[in-house]
Amino acid sequence: MRSPYDAVMDRFRVTGGARLAGEVRITGAKNSALKLMAAALLAEGVTVLEEVPKILDVQIMSELLRRLGCVVEGETTGTLSIDVPASPGHVTDYDLVRSMRASICVLGPLLARCGEVQVAFPGGDAIGSRGLDMHIDGLVKLGATVENEHGYLIAKAPKGLVGTPVWLDFPSVGATENILMAAVLAKGTTVIDNAAREPEIVDICTMLSGMGAKIEGAGTSTIEIHGVDGLSPVRHRTVPDRIVAGTFAVAAAVTHGDVTVRNARPEHLEIALDKLTVSGAAVTTVEDGFRVVMDRRPGAVDVVTLPYPGFATDMQPQFAVLNAVSDGHAMITENIFEARFVFLQELLRLGASIRTDGHHAIVRGVDRLSGAPVLATDVRAGAGLVLAGLVADGETLVSGVHHIDRGYDDLVNQLQVLGGSIEREPEPEPRF
Ligand code: EPU
Repeated sequence: MRSPYDAVMDRFRVTGGARLAGEVRITGAKNSALKLMAAALLAEGVTVLEEVPKILDVQIMSELLRRLGCVVEGETTGTLSIDVPASPGHVTDYDLVRSMRASICVLGPLLARCGEVQVAFPGGDAIGSRGLDMHIDGLVKLGATVENEHGYLIAKAPKGLVGTPVWLDFPSVGATENILMAAVLAKGTTVIDNAAREPEIVDICTMLSGMGAKIEGAGTSTIEIHGVDGLSPVRHRTVPDRIVAGTFAVAAAVTHGDVTVRNARPEHLEIALDKLTVSGAAVTTVEDGFRVVMDRRPGAVDVVTLPYPGFATDMQPQFAVLNAVSDGHAMITENIFEARFVFLQELLRLGASIRTDGHHAIVRGVDRLSGAPVLATDVRAGAGLVLAGLVADGETLVSGVHHIDRGYDDLVNQLQVLGGSIEREPEPEPRF
C-alpha cells in the first residue's frame, strides 16, 4: 500500500461521458472501523475486525495503535487483528493524531483503560471548526480532569470514572463515541442524552456488547451504559459503508447508468435513496444491497444536512454534483460542517451554476459541465469532483487525491469496472 506522502503527489485523470453499469461491492465503513479499532484498546488480547476498508486512515490508526504497544496485522487484507497488551501506552503520537481527526476516539478508551491519556489536538479534513467541547465536558462529568498543554489534551482519572447522566448540546458522533467508550468501564450507570444515532454508533455498541459491555438504547437518542469491571476481545464485522454506497448510487444517477451496489444497507441511506427516486432514478432493493437505474437527466432535489437519520453531510457534495447537471434548480443547506461549501468553488471551475449565501447554496442545473483541473479539499469533496469528472466534457484532473484515499477503498478500479474512464497518475512538478 502507498504511503500518504506518495499519494499527495498523485492525481486522477477522469474522462467524462461513460455510462456506469454493473456491480460493485462495498467494504465496511471508514467511520466505524476506525472507532472499532480504538474500542479494541478496551480489552487485553486479540480483537479481530472484518470488512475493514483498505484505506489510508486505517493505516494511520494501525500505526497509532502500534505505538501504544499493540500488534496490528492485516490492514491490507480487510481482516485486521489487534493484539492489545495488558498495559497499553497512554501517550499517542503527536503527528499521527494531527494527521487524522478520527484518532481523537482513542481518548475515551485509553482513559478508561489506563486512567490517563495524552492526545494531540486532532487534524483531518479542513471542513470546519470541529470543536471538542462535548467530548471534554462528557469525560469531565464522568470524573476526569482534562487540561490542554503544549498542543496535547491530557485527561486523567486515577481513581477511575464514575457513571453519570450526560447531555449533549448536539448529537455529536465523536463525543457520543468517546463518552460511550469511557463509560463502559466506569463504576455505575451513564446515560447519554441527545446521543448520536448513526449506524456506526450502533455498530460500535454491538461490538462493545460482544466484548461484555452492558448497553441499552443504541440507535436512539438515549444510550444507557452500565459499567462493568472488564471486557474481553471479540471478533466483529464492520457495518457496510453507507457513504461509499451512496456515492456509487449518485454515480449511477448522474451518468444515466445502471449500478447494483452489494454489501450495502439501503435502510441506512433512506433519505438519499428517496431523493434519487424523486430525481427520476429507479431504486430497488436487491439481495445484499440495492440497484439504481437512471434513464434521463436527473431532476433537481433540495438537500438539508442533519444528524442521522437526517440527510448525511457526507453525501452533500455528491448531491451538489447531481443538482449541478440536473434539469432544474435546488437549494442545498449545510448544517453540520460550515466549510464544506469550499468544494463548490471547484465545481464552478467545471462550469456549474451555484450561488451561496451562508450555509445555503442555490444550484441551477446546466446542460453540460466542462472538464478542468480541480483540487479535492476533503474526502467527500474529492468524491464529488470525481463524479463531476465522470459527466463533464473532456478531461477533469483531480488533485489532492490523498484525501480521497482516506475514505475510498480502490475507487479508481471500482469505477473502471463499471465502465468509468479514470486513471491514477503522478502529479507533475509545479511549474512555478
Ligand atoms: N462539534 C462541536 N464540539 C464537539 C463535537 C462536535 O462543536 O465537541 C461540532 C463539529 O464542529 C461539527 C458538528 O459538531 O460542526 C458535528 O460533529 P460530529 O462530532 O458529529 O462529527 P465528527 O465525529 O467529527 C463524524 C465523521 C464525519 C461525519 C460526521 C457527521 C468520523 C471520523 N467522522 O465526524 O465524517 O461527517 O461524523 O456525521 O467518524 C467524512 O467521513 O468525510 C467525515 C467528515
